[in-house]
Amino acid sequence: MAVLVLGGAGYIGSHMVKRLIEDEREVVVVDNLVTGHRQAVHPDAKFYEVDVRDKAALNQVFDQENIEAVVHFAAFSIVPESVANPLKYFDNNTSGMITLLEVMKAHDVKQIVFSSTAATYGNPVNIPIKETDPQQPINPYGESKLMMEKIMAWADQADGIKWVALRYFNVAGAAEDGTIGEDHAPETHLVPIILQAGLGQRDYIEMFGDDYNTPDGFNVRDYVHVLDLADAHILALDYLKEGGDSNQFNLGSATGFSVKEMVEAARKATGVDIPSKIGPRRPGDPDILVANSDKARRVLGWAPKYDNVEDIIKTAWQWHQSHPEGYTK
Ligand code: UFG
Repeated sequence: MAVLVLGGAGYIGSHMVKRLIEDEREVVVVDNLVTGHRQAVHPDAKFYEVDVRDKAALNQVFDQENIEAVVHFAAFSIVPESVANPLKYFDNNTSGMITLLEVMKAHDVKQIVFSSTAATYGNPVNIPIKETDPQQPINPYGESKLMMEKIMAWADQADGIKWVALRYFNVAGAAEDGTIGEDHAPETHLVPIILQAGLGQRDYIEMFGDDYNTPDGFNVRDYVHVLDLADAHILALDYLKEGGDSNQFNLGSATGFSVKEMVEAARKATGVDIPSKIGPRRPGDPDILVANSDKARRVLGWAPKYDNVEDIIKTAWQWHQSHPEGYTK
């Protein structure tokens, strides 16, 4: 029986595939390669270049493979892009989920682990954020993922498809052996942009807004290592396999770092005096997102190994230094 990883050529998905293969599990990857990279997919995984919205092609994959569970990473995830182009997000993310659940239902596949996000909370009511706190997204990306969570909940009621939504906070870092890492075009995420400035590929890192309602005025995020995230997915798959009910978990470190603190941490981690500038706010950014992840630790037994942002940045730095142009295909 195989685990199907949708979006397994993307940043987080490719780390998940590597982790599953290292765990000696059978892995099938589906990715449309719009943002993912063929090179990022572990050679021992079976690969299909298929779009999650292409029902006929997805049906064929399920016909050919013996799928026992699905891990769903195949979504667009850039907050400012979603503000500028919301329909792109509701089409690929939300409508893709409907197609996927229809195909799962038709093939009697009843387990799905889903990449949800801190962006479903909007401007949080409490810090750190608990899973039971209100979900009021302030950007279309967060809204599209909240809709996906709700669609899964109704599909569970009607069809018994059990799901785990993992609400990621800010993911960073790379595989420790330096073989895979983060490569988006264009890059919009803070850690790779800081490191590109460290490599001289950018003149400076622009820090978006110094007038947020936070201690130093820069907005605050909770950074979690991509390998710790992959571990949580393995635990979530095991939880569903053992008959666990549908559930949702925050995945973060419970510690917030401002943009300015991240730039300072990167200077320490790299030993490079990375140039920075203060710019205007970026649309769609909440002031502060920090997770309470007690539930994942308690229920799933999740024990993240990286609790220091400098160590997270060091693994990303190793990837950026060894792959300054990212993947070649
Ligand atoms: N930032 C800058 N300069 C940059 C890029 C980012 O100051 O050049 C700031 C942003 O304003 C934000 C922080 O760095 O405060 C992190 O921004 P990212 O773009 O790296 O990440 P986001 O917080 O926007 O979003 C990420 C994921 C989402 C996820 C969210 C959850 O991309 O999928 O984390 O917190 F939902």
